[in-house]
Amino acid sequence: MEEVTIGVIGGSGLYQMEGLTDIVEVDLDTPFGKPSDSIVIGTLEGQRVAFLPRHGRGHRILPGELPTRANIYAMKMLGVKWLIAVSACGSLRADYAPGHIVIPDGLFDRTRGRPLTFFGDGIVAHISMADPFCPVLSDVLYKAVKETGATVHKGGNFIVIEGPRFSTRTESHVFRAWGMDIIGMTAVPEAQLAREAEIAYAVMAHVTDYDVWHESEEPVTVEMVIRTLKQNVKHAQEAVRNAVRLLSSQPDLTSPAWDALRDALMTAPEMVPIETRR
Ligand code: ADE
Repeated sequence: MEEVTIGVIGGSGLYQMEGLTDIVEVDLDTPFGKPSDSIVIGTLEGQRVAFLPRHGRGHRILPGELPTRANIYAMKMLGVKWLIAVSACGSLRADYAPGHIVIPDGLFDRTRGRPLTFFGDGIVAHISMADPFCPVLSDVLYKAVKETGATVHKGGNFIVIEGPRFSTRTESHVFRAWGMDIIGMTAVPEAQLAREAEIAYAVMAHVTDYDVWHESEEPVTVEMVIRTLKQNVKHAQEAVRNAVRLLSSQPDLTSPAWDALRDALMTAPEMVPIETRR
């Protein structure tokens, strides 16, 4: 299998990447089942890139039903070191408006019952998630979006809810009071599984709505989300292309995520089967 160092997970509205050439499609199987869809590998800005639509082509998979362990495992199998996640999100503050893009630096987990780890079955590890997104990749994404001319905000607390329903007004007000800035349904468990897999991971979050807290804006609906995403898909694709160019022009960049497991393993090394030992 060919090695691919840059992966892209496309969110709602981004089901394929424009401009990929020399495309091959790979159907991978992992110990955690099959990924959301086949992975499209193609050349972008002279670099091989692996693209996976998070919800499958045709948007078939609920956030809570996503095979995220398989998705991240498949990216690891391909050799991905930098993983760019594109997501839709709601805004919990007035100055992050629909159409803007946010590169979050904080994460709050309000999901329930999703498989959150690759570990278990005799292997105990506790990774650090103090800084849940790779700062190096986040910086690249910020510059990449800026180049498109879109309004981009660096930093923000991303709360991830279980869904599939949107929040109540009460919840939305509480999340604001907690200091949350944007809200979505998929960055958990993607962020921590990528960290466990020692893949640098960052999110380009496209604001599609003001959730339900805003007094003069309509409460979020799917129609609203899709309408804004359709207007923004060109920006998203251009930003991904810029990010790939920026990454390939700086081959010396490294991420702290790449040795996330160095001090994380509790299980005595002699107890860990040889094939899973690092
Ligand atoms: N994705 C897009 N808008 C959202 C919202 N308001 N809440 C949760 N997920 C979203």
